[in-house]
Amino acid sequence: MTKAHHEEKTLHKLVNRSKEDLCSGQPVDAGRREAIKTGALGAAVAAASSVIGAGTVFAQESRAVSTSKELAGKTAFITGGARGIGLATAEEMAKAGANIVLFDIASGQIPNVGYPMANESDLQSAKAKVEAVGAKCLAIKGDVRNRRAQESAMDQAVKNFGSLDVVVANAGVTQAGNIEEFSAEEISVVFDINVAGIVKTTQAAAPIMKKQQAGRIIYVSSALGRMGNELFPVYTSSKWAVIGFAKSAALTYGKDNILCNTVCPGLVHTRLADNEYILKKMLPNDPNPTFDRVSEMLKPGNPISIGHLEPLDIARAIMFFAGPATAKVTGEVFDISYGSTARSIA
Ligand SMILES: NC(=O)c1ccc[n+]([C@@H]2O[C@H](COP(=O)([O-])OP(=O)(O)OC[C@H]3O[C@@H](n4cnc5c(N)ncnc54)[C@H](O)[C@@H]3O)[C@@H](O)[C@H]2O)c1
Repeated sequence: MTKAHHEEKTLHKLVNRSKEDLCSGQPVDAGRREAIKTGALGAAVAAASSVIGAGTVFAQESRAVSTSKELAGKTAFITGGARGIGLATAEEMAKAGANIVLFDIASGQIPNVGYPMANESDLQSAKAKVEAVGAKCLAIKGDVRNRRAQESAMDQAVKNFGSLDVVVANAGVTQAGNIEEFSAEEISVVFDINVAGIVKTTQAAAPIMKKQQAGRIIYVSSALGRMGNELFPVYTSSKWAVIGFAKSAALTYGKDNILCNTVCPGLVHTRLADNEYILKKMLPNDPNPTFDRVSEMLKPGNPISIGHLEPLDIARAIMFFAGPATAKVTGEVFDISYGSTARSIA
């Protein structure tokens, strides 16, 4: 049999098995159901379907996939949860049945960061959004640079909800400019939050998860954690460090069934990117720089012709690492960057 024949046969089998599972009324096993729902297997089967001309049938059947709540009874702790990617993740996890803890500095400003953070009213409105989905939610004001504050917040999570199942180490700040123009304080604040912050989040979570002999920690790095970048040199190096730490944590905690994985978003429409300070750096010759113009500028260079992502796109990828499809996965890195990293890494 030629290689092409063999591959086509395998694809036929994959499509037919999925159709059997979906049509028979028999329960699809949890891992495969999740893979179909979140798109991993769905994407493989959709690709297979289009090869053999069954795409339409599968597209209809995929809507019949079970909608059971995959995080029911679990507790998710999300740093930087007051807005942006953190909030979108909280809402997705709430919809999936999780109790939510939002942990955010909610300070309005951080010295030596060039754009505003979330404030207390953002944190309260994030809590209201999560509760509107029907989930229980604690909103805790705190700084990821403080290990004790995170330990205490995680203790509250366990006291209120009984466990700490998913931690999303998401809080982060950015800055842009020429290598030589950053002050010592500007360099330090990025590393203290983006790198030391995720280390401290892990230090706080690990003892609880070790006791449980279960847990997921999902780190938010960046597409800039996968390549060099002249405009974001310090931020870029901090996001490479996130991946190095996440892989080290995966090695350390695998024996305790704590799974540590990383997502790497491309440009996402949040306040981190859509603010006066960053837009001026990205479009220095534009008298009225806007996020839309940045997105338009990036679009032609990307394999998929889009210039940016929405927070929900990233939330879904984070959900993938919280759910059953990745129950045997650790130390992995998932790029969600409209194909940009296809050019730069193996
Ligand atoms: N927006 C993008 O284009 C993009 C791309 C790749 C990666 N990321 C990463 O995604 C993560 C979330 O960013 P976002 O885009 O949602 O930004 P955002 O600025 O909208 O949200 C970040 C949240 O983190 C909070 N925060 C900041 N410092 C904190 C601290 N020390 N302690 C606790 N909370 C703190 C802020 O108050 C804010 O609510 C960051 O790690 C960022 O580096 C963002």
